[in-house]
Amino acid sequence: MTNKTYKPIPIITKNLVPIIPRNGQEWWRLRSELQKELSVPKNVRSFLMDVDDITNEFVNHLESDIVINMLPELARLNLELTCLLTFDVRLNSFSIEEKHPNSKTSRLIRATETTNSCILPTDQGLQLWRKFETPTYKRLRRAQNFMENVAIDLISEKISYYREDRQQQFSAGYMKRSSLIDEYLKNPNLDLSDIVGVGNDLMLAGVDTTSYTSSFVLYYLGRYPEVQKKVFEEAKKFMKEKYAPIEGDALRTDIPYTRAVLKEVFRLNPISVGIGRILNKDTVFSSYEVPKGTCVVTQNMVACRLEKNFSDPLEFKPERWVNRKNAINPYLVLPFGHGMRACIARRMAEQNILVFILRIVRNYEVKWIGRNDMNVRTVLINKPDQPVNVILKSRND
Ligand code: HEM
Repeated sequence: MTNKTYKPIPIITKNLVPIIPRNGQEWWRLRSELQKELSVPKNVRSFLMDVDDITNEFVNHLESDIVINMLPELARLNLELTCLLTFDVRLNSFSIEEKHPNSKTSRLIRATETTNSCILPTDQGLQLWRKFETPTYKRLRRAQNFMENVAIDLISEKISYYREDRQQQFSAGYMKRSSLIDEYLKNPNLDLSDIVGVGNDLMLAGVDTTSYTSSFVLYYLGRYPEVQKKVFEEAKKFMKEKYAPIEGDALRTDIPYTRAVLKEVFRLNPISVGIGRILNKDTVFSSYEVPKGTCVVTQNMVACRLEKNFSDPLEFKPERWVNRKNAINPYLVLPFGHGMRACIARRMAEQNILVFILRIVRNYEVKWIGRNDMNVRTVLINKPDQPVNVILKSRND
């Protein structure tokens, strides 16, 4: 992208309702258009090279042999990845300038955290914000305005490029393929307010979810060195050199143990306690009649920690997913939800986290320095309840 500044496009500030809070017909109209790019495995794999490049850059910018709180660092990685894939823009989140508290990326990261922590308190209880602007509502509104303005700016730049020279637009971009917003702009069934809403939603849903999950991964890798050793051996098999690129086929077939580690993290520390739905008909659960319109939330996280569902349920044992002796109910571990409304970016998120795990473990030995009993604090989603403190020791092999 160039440094040119563009006037925001006025029309896209109207009727902005993103996908996450929509329901019914309006939700499906958007969802059916948006998911094509994100759910087809081939499309998701076409982002792999860019994801690997940025993750490599991220891993190499980390300092070794000092204590680092990885959570703010991971937020930068996932913001950078989300914005590249969504808008084809590099925000240079790992630079010293961007690490300043008033930079654009620092404000964006704060805005996603603020939104995620203000939704629950405004949604529950008396909802006084409907009568007057409560402090929590004000924080939420400001955070959302900021994110929306960033989305409008980035999309305005894109449209100006299209108007100037479409060919040049592609050659000026950073990515080896076109971004999600490029694809959505070509879709006649989406209008500009839909597209800005989506840009905003992807930034909101893409940063904290993936950063918290990666934090839990680091915690378990650090606490269980024998697990980390096996991940390292798996990574080294197809990355003989540290900088060897990660290939799509290898990611699909050659890392069963690393995948099992991620699955076990999702079993013990999913970022969502379960799946929430508003019933569209009267339903009976375990002989209790539940009327239409009731909001029901399944308790997968609790179920995953019960002895009747898993042996040694509180033990971190990726092996249980590798050599499965007993069938495991497929409805227990559902970190991305289930059905038509499941996470739209599941494949992308898994790809990004697997690349992160392989790159960090291939480059460093991760030593856990935080408290040994990391737990979760539920804001809207589950976040680590303490700093994610680690020491990274460079590997020479
Ligand atoms: C570890 C990472 C992630 C986890 C665990 C996760 C989990 C979830 C869950 C549980 C839902 C609700 C599903 C349901 O109700 O059945 C959801 C929805 C959603 N997620 Fe994710 N997510 C992750 C990453 C991402 C990323 C990276 C993005 C975008 C870049 C994203 C975008 C969305 C969107 C837009 C929705 C709403 C879909 C709809 O309402 O139709 N998520 N996610």
